[in-house]
Amino acid sequence: MLQGTPGRVREYYDEHPISEARVLEALAAQGFGGPLTAEALFEFDQDHYGGLAAVDALAGRAGVGASSRVLDLCAGLGGPARFLASRRGSAVVALELHPGRAAGAARLNRLVKQTRVAVVRADAATLPFANGAFDACLSQEALLHIADKPAVLAECHRVLVPGGRLAFTDWIAFPSLGDRERERLWEWMAATTLQTLDGYRALLGRASFTAVEAEDLSGEWRSIVRKRLELHRALRPQREARLGQRSYEECDQLHAYFVRLIEAGKLGGGRFTATR
Ligand SMILES: C[S@@+](CC[C@H](N)C(=O)[O-])C[C@H]1O[C@@H](n2cnc3c(N)ncnc32)[C@H](O)[C@@H]1O
Repeated sequence: MLQGTPGRVREYYDEHPISEARVLEALAAQGFGGPLTAEALFEFDQDHYGGLAAVDALAGRAGVGASSRVLDLCAGLGGPARFLASRRGSAVVALELHPGRAAGAARLNRLVKQTRVAVVRADAATLPFANGAFDACLSQEALLHIADKPAVLAECHRVLVPGGRLAFTDWIAFPSLGDRERERLWEWMAATTLQTLDGYRALLGRASFTAVEAEDLSGEWRSIVRKRLELHRALRPQREARLGQRSYEECDQLHAYFVRLIEAGKLGGGRFTATR
């Protein structure tokens, strides 16, 4: 039976600023008229660092093309899945556990008539697919929420064809990240059991993946998160008007804390690729 999203993860995404409603509001504020396309959503529906270029880099490493059957694990509002379907012509399953996000992803697909993306609401640790159902599995900034990473990697291995490729990005921890900081990341951002670059390398090997590569993206992420914080602060009047002063300040505090951890070299990002 499908279990609910673990409480803290669900609460975090219940309140998250990237939501179907926000995407539609942002489009309306731009005065978007005419038939809505997946392209028009891309500015707002990606919930990871590095935007479309980051999705493209993963897809390139996984060899995703028009004939690929792709699984996007923890797909959020389906933005990366629609990008792969639109730009690479792939058939994509967008798997997402949060009920609001899964329903939002499906509605956005219908709105832009993206029929090459199917949304499935399920847990990444227990995939409802047959062995060898996919040529590529991708995921961005999501495994940080899942405690049982070996289960997720074992499931990716099972649903990939022999020779299929797994490519994902995720937060990584460095040795100086303290216990209190890890607790705060759980309380504030629903991050659990953060891995190191070497920790992920070992987990991928144990899950029987070969040709494992781990790239440290922390330098790139440092400038991305700093710019995002500056943008958030530049939009303070609009955001305060929408969220209220207290929520804006809470959000700012959380955001600044995260940026400080990255700038201090305690937290970062990694990109991992491997072959089944
Ligand atoms: C940071 S968002 C990334 C969304 C998407 N990958 C993107 O880049 O736009 C992480 C997503 O993982 C989802 N998630 C967390 N735990 C999950 C699980 N066990 N199974 C499936 N999805 C999960 C969350 O609900 C959230 O939508």
